[in-house]
Amino acid sequence: MSIRAQSVTKVYHHPMSGTTPVVAVKEISVDINEGSYTIIFGSTGSGKTTLLGLLAGIIKPTNGEIIFHNLHLSEVSDNAVSLFREQSIGYIPQNTLLMKDLTVLENILSPNVFLKKSIKQLKEYALMLLEQLNLLGKEDFKPGELSGGENKKVMIARALLKKPKYLFADEPVSELDDDTARSVLNLFTELHKEGSAVVIASHKPITRRYKTDLYTMESGQFQEYTTGGEK
Ligand SMILES: Nc1ncnc2c1ncn2[C@@H]1O[C@H](COP(=O)(O)OP(=O)(O)O)[C@@H](O)[C@H]1O
Ligand SMILES: [Mg+2]
Repeated sequence: MSIRAQSVTKVYHHPMSGTTPVVAVKEISVDINEGSYTIIFGSTGSGKTTLLGLLAGIIKPTNGEIIFHNLHLSEVSDNAVSLFREQSIGYIPQNTLLMKDLTVLENILSPNVFLKKSIKQLKEYALMLLEQLNLLGKEDFKPGELSGGENKKVMIARALLKKPKYLFADEPVSELDDDTARSVLNLFTELHKEGSAVVIASHKPITRRYKTDLYTMESGQFQEYTTGGEK
């Protein structure tokens, strides 16, 4: 099982400004296999966020095809895509998007209420995640009462709560201190050990795990691919 990109291209048009279109991702093909660990590394503007959005079915490609298992996204309804995403994908966006009137705990739980687990179990797991992220005690705070890095941690807990088969994390540790970054990456490792695929986009170098696929991105294309890392 995998999420597959087949020669995907994404062009952004700026109709109002009259400037030339931006080719954010250019003819990229990649397989994200279940159980794999992938890092997409590159400078700002190289196309990482766009590629992650394409792979997660959030952004529609201008050309090429995204395939979730055997679902060709261009051939199925938006509802089918949403259902797959709900069931199988966890997405940590680069910029935090939290409901400002909900508490930390409510923000973590609310998109996950469809999970076939009791609210008690979900709450327990959410609190465990908050503890590991050093955010315990702030579960009743509102996003406006937290720092940018703390908001990011809430987004991380929210995506991890459902133990997604595929986790896409956009700059998950770029604004965190080293200790917190390590806890976040440890949580990703735990998920990976349970068989999930982890895909990280980052402009900061990240320590590679054993058998990490590392793609270096530049101007919308992969420049380099290596596999390896620490045992
Ligand atoms: N929604 C958008 N509309 C127009 N241009 C965009 C949009 N998102 C990204 N871009 C452009 O696409 C290029 C790649 O951006 P992005 O995928 O965010 O790269 P990265 O995540 O590596 O910084 C940049 O030149 C950026 O300005
Ligand atoms: Mg980005």
